Amino acid sequence: MTLKIACIGAGYVGGPTMAMIAHKCKDIEVTVLDINEERIAAWNSDKLPIYEPGLEEVVFACRGKTLFFSTECEKKVAEADIVFISVNTPTKTRGVGAGYAADMTYWEGAARMIAKVSHSPKIIVEKSTVPVKTAQAVERVLSNNVLNDGARFDILSNPEFLAEGTAIKDLENPDRVIIGGRQTPSGLKAIQTLKDVYAQWVPEEQILTSNLWSSELAKLAANAFLAQRISSINSISALCEKTGADVSEIAKCIGADSRIGPKFLNASVGFGGSCFQKDILNMVYICKGLGLEEIARYWESVVTINNLQKRRFVDIVISSLFNTVRGKKIAILGFAFKKDTGDTRETPAIDVCNGLLDEGADLAVYDPQVTEERMKTDLSLDKFEWDHPYTQRKAKEVEDHIECCDSVYKACEGAHAVCILTEWDEFKTLDLKKIYDSMVKPAFIFDGRNVVDGKHAKEVGFVFYGLGKPLDPFLTDPSSPCSP
Ligand code: NAD
Ligand code: UGA
Repeated sequence: MTLKIACIGAGYVGGPTMAMIAHKCKDIEVTVLDINEERIAAWNSDKLPIYEPGLEEVVFACRGKTLFFSTECEKKVAEADIVFISVNTPTKTRGVGAGYAADMTYWEGAARMIAKVSHSPKIIVEKSTVPVKTAQAVERVLSNNVLNDGARFDILSNPEFLAEGTAIKDLENPDRVIIGGRQTPSGLKAIQTLKDVYAQWVPEEQILTSNLWSSELAKLAANAFLAQRISSINSISALCEKTGADVSEIAKCIGADSRIGPKFLNASVGFGGSCFQKDILNMVYICKGLGLEEIARYWESVVTINNLQKRRFVDIVISSLFNTVRGKKIAILGFAFKKDTGDTRETPAIDVCNGLLDEGADLAVYDPQVTEERMKTDLSLDKFEWDHPYTQRKAKEVEDHIECCDSVYKACEGAHAVCILTEWDEFKTLDLKKIYDSMVKPAFIFDGRNVVDGKHAKEVGFVFYGLGKPLDPFLTDPSSPCSP
């Protein structure tokens, strides 16, 4: 009999992870489910709903054979042997824990639906990132709502560690897969069943098994550690600008220590993405609930430094442009939260753009993957609202002050300054002379990702700010003449 897998949630995680399972396991039928009809239609079309290098090849190779996308959630869950839950778990925007706790509405909805329609034993797999002890809550929801004889559930935690932009590479060759479960005979059997799925392409020694709570907490802890590294190097970038040290040189020096390692030491305008901030705030909330106030404060400071970094960038732009950006055109290059994705969730570009809009700037934005509609929606929503379907868009002057451009050069024409907010590869090879000639003088570049060759930019005539780099004399003393 073919093993049947259903996955509730066809988003950035559900889509690619299930596509990889279907691609690697020819003996498993995988169906990805969503209540969002538009999303499922896109998964079934030539234009997939998310941009991810290598994703199309994997999906197109197995769609209709071992991989299916459907809105028939109840039917497909009822038929499945293993049900992954990969729904969104956003930060709560209202009520108890607002701004910190994970909103488990979508999760609980999925669990109740599973209980209602199941009539055979199933393994339920937590794929979403969830608060530690969620498995216990799910067990309770399931056991109290089951309607049919024959339904029985084993809950596993199998958090996902893929990063956007490299999802296919990460899924094909993961550092590790974690499977947590109850240490009972039935729990251990469920762990083995899921392990057998991954073992079809992941070396066994990289499939780690643990108890449920370690697996749930490991996911939150991993994201907290990664984000902490970025806030650490970003805090050093502020120190560099005040002292003449260069943050890239520092990253190289400290990354050469094998105990520290070179990855995740790129100073930036701030980390973004749907998860780092959400997961840290969730962990902070859990710590507070357990009376661990000091530990909560320690982890919250990672988010505080990140917010400071975005604010610092905006302040530098404003002060450099003679303390006013009102009515000035500023080119924004890059809106996605990192390169190789069209995802804008919690992108630092939102905070930077809002900071400049608040000061009256006119923004011309270019991003190779983000649509005009997405940008405008993002800039008219309140913090944390983007992940909630009940959101009401705030009426703002976005229409009047944002222009979305289809090329870098169009965005920069007539601008006073260029802000680079995403590290897209194409920004490394810009024709700086052409851009400079088309801009108002003095022309500024504020490189929030350190992708532009600062020396060349200065030779061309720009006043150049590289994040965490020694400051251009023009920026330390705005009355001095523009270089060169
Ligand atoms: P997403 O918003 O892209 O996708 C979630 C999908 O679930 C949505 O399409 C939504 O319509 C659907 N959904 C919600 N309730 C449903 C229900 N009851 N039935 C059917 N479908 C339902 O979210 P995502 O980025 O895929 O993240 C999902 C989870 O994975 C989150 O907990 C996140 O923290 C975690 N995660 C995300 C990433 C990432 O790179 N985005 C990486 C690792 C872990
Ligand atoms: C991150 C983790 O890397 C994944 O392991 C995890 O599964 C995922 O969160 C999740 O739980 O959602 P992701 O957010 O997709 O993945 O992308 P990252 O590559 O981690 O980048 C996050 C942010 O940090 C981006 O804005 C990026 O530009 C920034 N960053 C990253 C830096 O500013 N400096 C760096 O050195 C690295």
